[in-house]
Amino acid sequence: MGMLELHGVTKAYDDFTVVESFSFDVIEGELRCLLGPNGAGKSTTMDLITGRQKLSGGKIVFDGRDITGMKEHEIARLGVGRKFQVPAVFRELTVRENLEVADNRSPNPFANMRWFGRSGDSRNFDQIVDLVGLGPRLGTQAGFLSHGETQWLEIGMVLMQNPKLLLMDEPTAGMTEHEKHKTSEIFGRLKGNHTLVVVEHDMSFVREIADVVTVMHLGKLLAEGPMKEIEVNSRVREVYLGSEGNGHDA
Ligand SMILES: Nc1ncnc2c1ncn2[C@@H]1O[C@H](COP(=O)(O)OP(=O)(O)O)[C@@H](O)[C@H]1O
Ligand SMILES: [Mg+2]
Repeated sequence: MGMLELHGVTKAYDDFTVVESFSFDVIEGELRCLLGPNGAGKSTTMDLITGRQKLSGGKIVFDGRDITGMKEHEIARLGVGRKFQVPAVFRELTVRENLEVADNRSPNPFANMRWFGRSGDSRNFDQIVDLVGLGPRLGTQAGFLSHGETQWLEIGMVLMQNPKLLLMDEPTAGMTEHEKHKTSEIFGRLKGNHTLVVVEHDMSFVREIADVVTVMHLGKLLAEGPMKEIEVNSRVREVYLGSEGNGHDA
């Protein structure tokens, strides 16, 4: 069953169409990678799914419900979680406090900290800490984490909201090879239990994690299929894979 369906989604500014009649379908438990050169419209597509930007045309269905035109917080409440390109953690708070604040039971983050742990959610907390591998860092202020650890913390924070669908924009940006590998393990464990859409540039990472890959170019669908097919697709190679490494061809 489709967890996320985009039907002819379009986003146009006065003189420029950023996303054009873009459609794709992600089934429950799937991990979909969204590829494409800079400027292809990937982040905008994320914005359209989460309601951060308004569609100019088309329709988005999440978990059987038409969410087109809904407000960002309404869509989040329905179970769409998002990790942005730049991590947004509270640097003065510890890892534990950041995760507690992220628990979205209340709009007041400090109320969350008080309530946390009273309602049987500690299992969820422990599982998430284990998954992102930050157990030894729970008492560390987030400002002292490495770049990779900060990204994992933010993934953990999104998971605290227990989303049905997780959107991640370039989660491995700036990571070392070792950190990327660990991130692919985290994603491997999320797959099946969560539905994920991951915008990613690193090809070896995509090879490790992706089921199906969707490639965008100039706001449109360029190709879609298993990574094995996508890698040898001549149109994809022309616009994207050939430019791997510089990423500034659009
Ligand atoms: N407010 C805006 N007005 C006009 N064009 C925009 C606006 N925001 C983004 N764009 C353009 O939309 C295109 C797609 O951007 P984006 O979705 O960030 O691409 P990607 O994430 O694939 O690199 C880019 O060419 C960008 O310059
Ligand atoms: Mg982007």
